[in-house]
Amino acid sequence: MNEPRSSHEGRVALVTGAARGIGQAIAVQLAERGASLVLVDIDEAHETAALLSGPSLVVAADVTSAADWARIDQQVQQRFGRTDIVVNNAGIGSPKRIDELDFEQWKKTLSVNLDAHFLSAKQFVPQMRNNNWGRFINISSNSIGLAIPGMSHYMASKMGVIGFVRGLANDVADGGITVNAVLPALTNTRLTQDMPEEAKRQTWQQQAIKRFAEPRDIAGAICFLSSEDASFITGQAIPVDGGQYKIS
Ligand SMILES: NC(=O)c1ccc[n+]([C@@H]2O[C@H](COP(=O)([O-])OP(=O)(O)OC[C@H]3O[C@@H](n4cnc5c(N)ncnc54)[C@H](O)[C@@H]3O)[C@@H](O)[C@H]2O)c1
Repeated sequence: MNEPRSSHEGRVALVTGAARGIGQAIAVQLAERGASLVLVDIDEAHETAALLSGPSLVVAADVTSAADWARIDQQVQQRFGRTDIVVNNAGIGSPKRIDELDFEQWKKTLSVNLDAHFLSAKQFVPQMRNNNWGRFINISSNSIGLAIPGMSHYMASKMGVIGFVRGLANDVADGGITVNAVLPALTNTRLTQDMPEEAKRQTWQQQAIKRFAEPRDIAGAICFLSSEDASFITGQAIPVDGGQYKIS
């Protein structure tokens, strides 16, 4: 059964990393539910804009830059008047074992995957408080629960996302703002394209639902968490992984 098409009508949703992959699927599904979209990416997300059923604004920006977040906000104010929903989805993660991992890659990974979430909160919490409504959905990863080598920098950033979500939720709850993390399974995007097919198969075979996730499999959870229906859910980390992550 499809969700009601109108659940996000009148909402302005900002998605980072919206040019492709999971971010593109999130943008498409939020637009299908009636949201106006702000498509943020270091590459211009015009291809995603062309897929959307409703209004959108494309902003080329680096999510690790506080100045870029201020510019994004300014452009959104001019076009839509405010931002209701922020989906921090932009992420990087080239596997490298600790012997080869250098401090530059460590810092870059933490910056894109975690600092950006902090910067988005600094930029948008004040206006969400004024409107007494807001949603942050921050993309972590179910890989934090898996035994995969070469992921120390990536796992540190994605665990950090969960810690940040848990902390921020307490700071903003009185402003009608919820903050949650989504932990996707290994998903068929450019991020995973260089992974050997056998390694991908071995990973998804550990899921209850035995197939490789597509970006659209992840997007539904973000639509729910950013809807009115999820107004009493905050500070949570929700795996969307076909039943792979073990709670223990
Ligand atoms: N694909 C997977 O298997 C998987 C699994 C779990 C979690 N995730 C997470 O999901 C999110 C999306 O991943 P994806 O698989 O769609 O990756 P992807 O590489 O296909 O897309 C990532 C997008 O982020 C953008 N981006 C990167 N750095 C940026 C920056 N500094 N500023 C602005 N935009 C930037 C890229 O241009 C790209 O469009 C990431 O946070 C990733 O860690 C992915």
